[in-house]
Amino acid sequence: MSFLTKFRSSTQEIPNISAEQLQIPKHVAIIMDGNGRWAKKRFLPRFAGHIKGVDALRNCVEFALNNNIEFLTVFAFSSENWRRPADEVSMLMDLFVKSLQKEVKRLLKHDVRLRIVGDISKFSEKLQTLILDAQEQTKDKQKLNLTIAANYGGRWDLVQAMNKLFAEQQNQNPKTDFGESDLEKYLSLSFAPEPDLFIRTGGEQRISNFLLWQLAYSEFYFTDTLWPEFDSKEFELAIASYQQRERRFGRISEQVKK
Ligand code: IPE
Ligand code: IPE
Ligand code: MG
Repeated sequence: MSFLTKFRSSTQEIPNISAEQLQIPKHVAIIMDGNGRWAKKRFLPRFAGHIKGVDALRNCVEFALNNNIEFLTVFAFSSENWRRPADEVSMLMDLFVKSLQKEVKRLLKHDVRLRIVGDISKFSEKLQTLILDAQEQTKDKQKLNLTIAANYGGRWDLVQAMNKLFAEQQNQNPKTDFGESDLEKYLSLSFAPEPDLFIRTGGEQRISNFLLWQLAYSEFYFTDTLWPEFDSKEFELAIASYQQRERRFGRISEQVKK
């Protein structure tokens, strides 16, 4: 039974209650952190934690599907993660390749559209081809938009958007008064609404150069739970916390209360 169904059973008198009325976030963004520590606690190599981390992501995708979350965006590899020991980086790349090879079929079956955001040009030819193929294969899927940020950095995203905006200007009379929407359309996540809920597992309370622009008004949820242990119960807790928040977007409480 899904979280939403459970919730529904307690509000049975309200027919056709929408996800919005139940305050199910439309877009959830997650920093999946704590794989290494999960492994270390078990005297396993760090890589064992990354493998478990893929299982946790699969479960979260299932949770999102069951609960009508429309966009799930996860941070898998940051532009700074190249600084890790070479063997860990190369194992992460292999795991990315293997996961794509294995999971795309499942995504298709569950009506999930996959996008990868980040500078994929730094990946091997093989990985780039797999990424482009997976995106192409799932492009008509609609139930869930799953986005994996890989070799992604929030600053990189802003700079690449700025470069595209600049290139566009070369073809016309240069404009000087740019608005937010001029830049926004070139950001990697321009297809998605801004995240309603941002989750970071693993105990750190920082953004680590994730979605710098898009998190402006997201609700933040930090948990000490390590990513491989982040299951549907943990996801429910995050959503329950989100449901307690009052999102004011600069207004005062009286203005947003219905
Ligand atoms: C997150 O887990 C996964 C990646 C950054 C690839 P970590 O590998 O950062 O795990 P910890 O933080 O060292 O425990
Ligand atoms: C952030 O985790 C990036 C990902 C989860 C992919 P890190 O473990 O790299 O973050 P820092 O270095 O602790 O800030
Ligand atoms: Mg970490």
